[in-house]
Amino acid sequence: MTRPIRKAVFPVAGMGSRFLPATKANPKEMLPIVDKPLIQYAAEEAVAAGATELIFITGRNKRSIEDHFDKAYELETELEKRGKEKLLALVQDVLPDNVACIYIRQAEPLGLGHAVLCAKPVVGNDPFAVILADDLIDGGDLNCLQQMAWVHEAHGGASVLAVEPVNPLETDRYGIVKTEPVADRVGRVERIVEKPKPANAPSNLGVVGRYLLSPRIFTLLEQTERGAGGEIQLTDAIAMLLAEEPVMAYQFRGKRYDCGDKLGYLVATVEHALAHPELKESFAEYLGRYVGTRLPR
Ligand code: UTP
Repeated sequence: MTRPIRKAVFPVAGMGSRFLPATKANPKEMLPIVDKPLIQYAAEEAVAAGATELIFITGRNKRSIEDHFDKAYELETELEKRGKEKLLALVQDVLPDNVACIYIRQAEPLGLGHAVLCAKPVVGNDPFAVILADDLIDGGDLNCLQQMAWVHEAHGGASVLAVEPVNPLETDRYGIVKTEPVADRVGRVERIVEKPKPANAPSNLGVVGRYLLSPRIFTLLEQTERGAGGEIQLTDAIAMLLAEEPVMAYQFRGKRYDCGDKLGYLVATVEHALAHPELKESFAEYLGRYVGTRLPR
């Protein structure tokens, strides 16, 4: 039996420069998809996979995330007074009671690897999850992190990286892995390269925003020099990890929306609106009419 994953780290201290000015005073992880912020989708995924400690690595705009997961006394009293039970439940049930939220400040945005290293004092010696909330993943019955927990368990507690085939012309937007297949959708990582040019990419399997990592990664992050863009890259520490321990790449089942990118964010919004219980009919009707009037016949 391997140890279950109880701790999930959410790095939310990035600049979010692609969404300025929306991200001037708010982290991009608070952008909503229809009516729920990205960070809540991510927190729900972690909790469904068994996490009971959610560790947020925050930057200059941390308040809205803390407020989102905190009790909102005034709002709750007001909703109660007005008899808005359904809305009250929505506000109160953001997270189950047994889940603790912990906030750690990343003083300077020195990169994803540095953000993960900031979680070391809380994570300690346990395997843990890292979720990048701007990758929204609809996994169906088993969410992406739950699927990865199975792979972690089935492969003796190995670290697991979520991967998917990416456009071969866009390898320079991802960490790219070379793998040795070991099971359906699972390969042992032999090499990992951060953002290689298409000509130098060892494959088109790109790492997306879900990781299950061995705590050994912290020691390796401490030894990691600043790499691409002057940042401490998580990929560089994973490259050292796989020389010491097995690291699996797992092609998850489900659909990923790259919500750190404007087009990906809009696609996620449209598709989630078309699946939203209150909106799906009226929005589909609107969209049909709109597209019908805009597209050449
Ligand atoms: P991105 O590479 O998407 O960068 O970070 P970004 O700053 O958030 O967004 P853009 O590219 O400027 O628009 C990947 C993840 O790592 C976190 C981000 O919050 C995001 O979840 N991150 C990045 C940190 O927490 N700290 C950092 O120093 C850098």
